[in-house]
Amino acid sequence: MSAQPAPITLNEISWPDYQGLDSFAKAGLFQHKGRPYHALLPQQFDRPMLDRIEALATMIRKIAKTRGGMNYLQSLLSEKRAMLYFAQPSTRTFLSFYAACQITGLHCAEVRDAHTSSEIKGESQEDSVRTFSSYFDLIIMRHPAGGFAERIAWMLSHTDRPVPVINAGSGKDQHPTQALLDVYTLQRSLEKRGGVAGKKIAFVGDLARGRTVRSLAWLLTLYEDVFMYFVAPETLQLGEDVQALLQSRKVSFTLTDDFEAVIPEVDAIYMTRIQDEWDTAHESNLIDTSKFHFEERHLKMLRPDAILMHPLPRRKEIAPEVDADPRAKYWRQVRNGMWVRTALILMMFDRDTEIDRYYHDLTRD
Ligand code: NCD
Repeated sequence: MSAQPAPITLNEISWPDYQGLDSFAKAGLFQHKGRPYHALLPQQFDRPMLDRIEALATMIRKIAKTRGGMNYLQSLLSEKRAMLYFAQPSTRTFLSFYAACQITGLHCAEVRDAHTSSEIKGESQEDSVRTFSSYFDLIIMRHPAGGFAERIAWMLSHTDRPVPVINAGSGKDQHPTQALLDVYTLQRSLEKRGGVAGKKIAFVGDLARGRTVRSLAWLLTLYEDVFMYFVAPETLQLGEDVQALLQSRKVSFTLTDDFEAVIPEVDAIYMTRIQDEWDTAHESNLIDTSKFHFEERHLKMLRPDAILMHPLPRRKEIAPEVDADPRAKYWRQVRNGMWVRTALILMMFDRDTEIDRYYHDLTRD
């Protein structure tokens, strides 16, 4: 008996079979002709794709500086419509995508509160999203349930009108577009020193439940010789699944709870907040997290050319006095996110080569 051929598209696989795949096999199902059709998992991005998104983001940022350039950008997707389906609190990621849509001319509509929809009449979330998808050409989705965006992409791929889906944060598991903007910020901020390759990067805080950490740690494995420190109280340390993924990529890393020993060692620090919305019995209150805060006095310990990042929102992880230091890059991350998301959307709709042409003409002597 001959073996079954491997599934090549999302609509050729059952949901249970899909769930049985590892993240790399899943990610392969989201690509179409060398570009992301969906953007759901960080594992679907390889190094050439990251380099491309970074280059596009930089060109878009420069084109957007003039009125003519902005008008041009706004013509690129003016015939398309996007739905922002955000079933979990969000303002910054929501607005970042909203702004990215505006830059490309994509018209958007939002669903923020499922309670105002027919879900209150007992409709399933899947039926709601399928109904709404009929009006749009792209779904940008944040949801508290891990894997929900994947389920929607799978479900729509079995209809006669599939629509691309972007994961804007799913449960505790992944936040791929945050990782894209984080990598872009690292590359830009460390540009003079050759970018991310060969750097030491520390992740600090709630590494067990922070989806931005899970996504970014993976993307960093695509750069040569990165060393990672995971700095957290024992109960909030990085999950074994991510550790196994890093080991499979032969990435060197260490787990520690000694933040002050790590600060002088690294080229970048990625702070995160305690994700206590996932507590079942306020257990975070029992953990002393003060040792995992970056205070003003720590600035002296940080290398002069190192950078400090945070996906935001922050609580007490970074003292406000630190904000004025040029090594604090978290506000830069926010702005970069808008350009990176614009680049991703244009790439998904196969309009990115138009950016190359326009930029080439703009910068020609
Ligand atoms: C992050 C998230 O939602 O996971 N925020 C964001 O998207 N910028 C981080 C967090 O909420 O702590």
